[in-house]
Amino acid sequence: MNHKIKDNVYAVSVLNPALRIFDIVMTTDYGTTYNSYIVKGTEKTALIEVNHASFFENYLDNIKEICKPEDIDYIILNHCEPDHSGALRELLDVCPNAKIIVTKMGGKYIDAICNRADMPVQYANDNEPIDLGGKTLKFFTAPMLHWPDSMFTWCEEDKILYSCDFLGSHYCEPYILDKYISDNCAYEKAFLGYYNAIFGPFKKFVRAGLDKIKSLDIETVCSSHGPVLTKGGKLEYAMEKYAEWSAEAVHDNPHIPVFYCSAYGNTKKLAEEICKGVKSVLPNAECDCYNMNCYCLAEMAEKANDADAMAFGSPTINADAVGPIWNLLACVDALNAKTKSAAVFGSYGWSGEAIPNITARLEGLKMKVIGSLKANFTPDSKDLENAFELGKALADSIKR
Ligand code: FEO
Repeated sequence: MNHKIKDNVYAVSVLNPALRIFDIVMTTDYGTTYNSYIVKGTEKTALIEVNHASFFENYLDNIKEICKPEDIDYIILNHCEPDHSGALRELLDVCPNAKIIVTKMGGKYIDAICNRADMPVQYANDNEPIDLGGKTLKFFTAPMLHWPDSMFTWCEEDKILYSCDFLGSHYCEPYILDKYISDNCAYEKAFLGYYNAIFGPFKKFVRAGLDKIKSLDIETVCSSHGPVLTKGGKLEYAMEKYAEWSAEAVHDNPHIPVFYCSAYGNTKKLAEEICKGVKSVLPNAECDCYNMNCYCLAEMAEKANDADAMAFGSPTINADAVGPIWNLLACVDALNAKTKSAAVFGSYGWSGEAIPNITARLEGLKMKVIGSLKANFTPDSKDLENAFELGKALADSIKR
């Protein structure tokens, strides 16, 4: 099935309403769509975005409803993640006249994704538009939105921005235009979840991307997932939310959360002393202890990713840190955590591996581990003093 977006512009997307997990890690309560568009000029035809390899037959049927595959002159990949490039290898067999347009970085990726020697690649250039005849496609590199090779494609005549994953959503309804969205609340939930999972780690790049397109008179956004956004429909909402969610966080007072788990209250005592140490240096700091067994992981992950510095504490069970702390560490966003200060602590009975294991994870995230401490069983006065000093050192590491 295809959907007309404008004159000679069609969505040939594949719908996947039953999908519940995307990319191994994202839940998709409302399925998704793998969007792809055919843009016909008077002279040339372009296909923008390809598709997931699993849906090649269905996808090809959609294309054939609009044009003969051999009439496609350009296949434009705004980035090369396999949900949009996976079907390229097979598609090239039926599109013998198509040139593939990608960024230079994208060229490397599709070589490795397709493993074909005969890839007719042409690199997209911000200063070299492609003229299809009455429809001019211009490219804007948009690195880290959300891949290094990402770009936007802009058609001035149609006022359509083909935005890659940017402004997209994992949300599937039978009709692709936003005016047909039947469950607005579900769409907005999906839109936020998608932003958080895909663009949350790249906020400064989101700001740069918005800046890059702000002078364009955009009427329609054709992203690679979810509904097509139109002026007067969901377009304004989507742009406003991206600006709001990507705004630089400015804390009047530093945020220094102390996360911990505690089996018998011993690691908890260390956590509390660390907080006191932090407050002795930075009385206005937002520094609280969070028992990971009492809070929801998403809320704690948000606190960790928003923090200026943080501490992680765990007892040692079976020679390792405990699950709730590992779950939190798995949510720490590596790009933003880099160079932030952290401290590690915990009580232990036999050997105390939790401390070096957490430290190794934080170092793997390229965080600055300013110190660690472990206390055997019940912390004595010296251990508590050390915890207080550790808190002071954590605060000193970010003192303005
Ligand atoms: Fe939908 Fe980044 O791929």
